[in-house]
Amino acid sequence: MNPKMQVSDAAEYLGVTIQAIHKNIKTNQLETSKSQNKMYFGHKTAKEIFKLDILPTCFTWQNLKGGVGKTNLSFATAARLASYGLEVLVIDLDQQGNFTQACGVDAEDKPVMFDIIKDNINISDCIINIHEGLDLLPSRIENALLDNLFAVNGLPVDRELKKRISPLKKHYDIIFIDCPPSLSSSVCAATLCADYVILPTDPEKFSLSGLQITLNEIKKNISERYDIHVNIKILLNKFDGRTNLSHQVLTALLSDEKFNSKLFKSFIRTSQEFPNSISKGTSIFDSLKPSTAKEDIDLLCHELIDLCKKDEM
Ligand SMILES: Nc1ncnc2c1ncn2[C@@H]1O[C@H](COP(=O)(O)OP(=O)(O)OP(=O)(O)O)[C@@H](O)[C@H]1O
Ligand SMILES: [Mg+2]
Repeated sequence: MNPKMQVSDAAEYLGVTIQAIHKNIKTNQLETSKSQNKMYFGHKTAKEIFKLDILPTCFTWQNLKGGVGKTNLSFATAARLASYGLEVLVIDLDQQGNFTQACGVDAEDKPVMFDIIKDNINISDCIINIHEGLDLLPSRIENALLDNLFAVNGLPVDRELKKRISPLKKHYDIIFIDCPPSLSSSVCAATLCADYVILPTDPEKFSLSGLQITLNEIKKNISERYDIHVNIKILLNKFDGRTNLSHQVLTALLSDEKFNSKLFKSFIRTSQEFPNSISKGTSIFDSLKPSTAKEDIDLLCHELIDLCKKDEM
């Protein structure tokens, strides 16, 4: 992948003119490239242009329901946040390893979270660089045994991941955990590491009941059992303005206070760009062509950055 940040997008985000960005680039001799008459830059230049000052923050992407977009959205968002100059780590905790495959990584001979816990391996030694600003702890099928490992060895679910993941905040601005579609012990352990839980949901018949079950389980199994507050953010995905169901689900989310108070302002519209790019191992931001997918993920990134800003937490 090679996600690109266009000068025009940077100017819009920073609320300055394109000329002001050009001047910054020229004065500081920052590296840029040009394609189809559009100027863009990568992670290193972005660091200098945006100079984002944020608190290292861990987000899990989870939902009991499968196929809601956890992997596709975390993949696009991670790539975009790296293009804002942030240091991003993604921990693939899903035994399906979809995120890992999207990054073109064959995890067969690489340690994954299961090995790290079973053999007490240093997690930092297992992290792979995917692109500037984007690192990955890969996953493969053995991660399905994580829950057994917790149960059989009587490992403390609330500490096993946290003691390994929290120290990584020294090296990263953003840590994403892409979870499997379950409410297993490993997902519970991931939730206990997280500053925020992102619950993508799609406008389908049972999506609100899936969301409700996930919210109840987080409350019962995590908030109450461990006496901690879990920050939950609901993200509506696969919104299609032409379907009644999309409008019905959006209305239901907006009209129910327990959902509405947790809802991201941004929602993600259905776009073939997500499956098309992930299947090629590229991010949606590799191309410079404007699209709804890019617009939606970019707005989501703005909200995520706001959540991590030092004065917001
Ligand atoms: N906004 C979108 N527009 C179009 N297709 C989408 C969108 N979001 C996700 N998809 C498609 O929906 C399917 C499921 O997405 P994804 O694999 O990201 O879900 P998931 O929640 O990670 O699934 P799992 O629970 O199996 O891990 C994929 O084929 C993906 O390309
Ligand atoms: Mg997935």
